Amino acid sequence: MKKVLLIANWKMDQSPEQSIRVARDLVKKVKKEKIKRDRQIVICPSFTEIQAVAKILLSAKIGLGAQDVFWGEYGAYTGGITAAALQSYGCQYVIVGHSERRQYLHEDNQMVNQKVKSVLKHNMTPIVCIGETFEERQAGQKEAVILKQLTEGLAGVWVHEKQTLLIAYEPVWVIGSGQAVDPDEAERTHATIKRTLLEFLPAKIVSDNVGIIYGGSVNGMNVRSFLIKPTIDGVLVGSASLTIDKFWPIIDY
Ligand code: PGA
Repeated sequence: MKKVLLIANWKMDQSPEQSIRVARDLVKKVKKEKIKRDRQIVICPSFTEIQAVAKILLSAKIGLGAQDVFWGEYGAYTGGITAAALQSYGCQYVIVGHSERRQYLHEDNQMVNQKVKSVLKHNMTPIVCIGETFEERQAGQKEAVILKQLTEGLAGVWVHEKQTLLIAYEPVWVIGSGQAVDPDEAERTHATIKRTLLEFLPAKIVSDNVGIIYGGSVNGMNVRSFLIKPTIDGVLVGSASLTIDKFWPIIDY
């Protein structure tokens, strides 16, 4: 059974105390309410809270992810965090190429590509974010932009039977806006992404080991309209994942 992925991206929005508190409350709630068996929750806290949050999540089988990684294995990369370190802290997922990193830190597809390879090498699941800006969309470049991000970000990437890869389609212009895209449009875009993946990965790997999730202003009210679509394997949630009150309706959609 392929599980529906409900991934919380806490960005830089939780203080250390909030991260611990929300993680603890979530574990309590999961144990009390029992989540449906076809769902996998994943929390991506800040690097500094990864170890503490990892310990809390373990007992409730909630997955742990990082928000970024550096591609090098070791060396003079001030501030860098290796995939090996993340793996040793219990991370199973790593967000790569989020639009905020592309925008503010000028991450390009080649950097994303190196990060994806490093994450896979350490047997974690990269969550590769792709998506168009409002200007690109207005200029009719949406498809060209996301397919370039996809093909360059995954150039030379091979996914083995024991590995998994997630693509997160996140239209940049709806992130944090409170207004998600039309689920029908997300579905069509996911189908295009899937078709493109089939050009360079075997069909069995694409169906069994690759998931395509949607992100951008997902909340408890709209989550179902995305997750009923057969091409949408999960959601990546920012602001609506910061409190239990907002995140639980997404988990329990
Ligand atoms: P949002 O963020 O849910 O706040 O729109 C999603 C994301 O950036 O991953």
